[in-house]
Amino acid sequence: MRKPKRNPPQPHRYTEKPRLLDLFCSAGGCTKGYQNAGFHVTGVDIEAQPRYVGDVFVQGDALDYLAQHGHEYDAIGASPPCQGYSVTRQLTGKAHPLLIDQVRRLLQDSGKPYIIENVPGAPLINPVVLVGSMFRLMTMRPRLFECSFDMPFVLAPPPAAKHARMGRRPKAGEYVHVVGHMSGVAYCRAAMGIDWMNQHELAQAIPPAYTEYIGRRLMELITHPCNDQENSYNSPNS
Ligand SMILES: C[S@@+](CC[C@H](N)C(=O)[O-])C[C@H]1O[C@@H](n2cnc3c(N)ncnc32)[C@H](O)[C@@H]1O
Repeated sequence: MRKPKRNPPQPHRYTEKPRLLDLFCSAGGCTKGYQNAGFHVTGVDIEAQPRYVGDVFVQGDALDYLAQHGHEYDAIGASPPCQGYSVTRQLTGKAHPLLIDQVRRLLQDSGKPYIIENVPGAPLINPVVLVGSMFRLMTMRPRLFECSFDMPFVLAPPPAAKHARMGRRPKAGEYVHVVGHMSGVAYCRAAMGIDWMNQHELAQAIPPAYTEYIGRRLMELITHPCNDQENSYNSPNS
């Protein structure tokens, strides 16, 4: 009897989802986008997050966790608190931690591809700017993303309609500012593409469409590294 033929050796393939660590995760706006891009996501936050949407949640200090466990993941995202960098910081009069430099150093030490997200005004290196109109969301919400890998440059379309006045309930078809004192929480949830958060979490969140966009590019680089020999994982969007 003929011996059954063996399959020829296959190049290495991921049989499980690549694992992404999402630091400062809150209830998981960024997390959801990375999941949609195909990652298994572990979130870390200093506060308990009963509505966290990811696969695993760790309550603790993000910097400590990154230093101890960062190397165990395939990729790392971080959204350090943005209040200290935002244009409204003078209005509150409070001191806020400025963690970006420290987070970047630890991310680089991990040797893993990384993303740092923050608000306009934050000291990110060669960031990509994403806004809601790129993804047909009804909020502009500009956010910066420093990527340690190459991200293609994209042009953002201007908003296709006017913004609802702050403090007034938005009418159908208007853009909204999703901030702490928002009116029309259901409208804001739909505008962000988020249906599981309370008002406070929503006001801090990143629309999942942003990190899905970046996560898909990252997934390509992780699963097909040979197509991108030139790409360095560890220097911001060179
Ligand atoms: C802007 S929110 C993150 C929003 C989140 N990326 C999203 O898209 O939904 C920042 C989060 O950082 C958390 N945080 C602040 N300092 C922290 C620390 N040292 N370690 C871990 N989490 C921290 C806060 O509790 C808060 O939930």
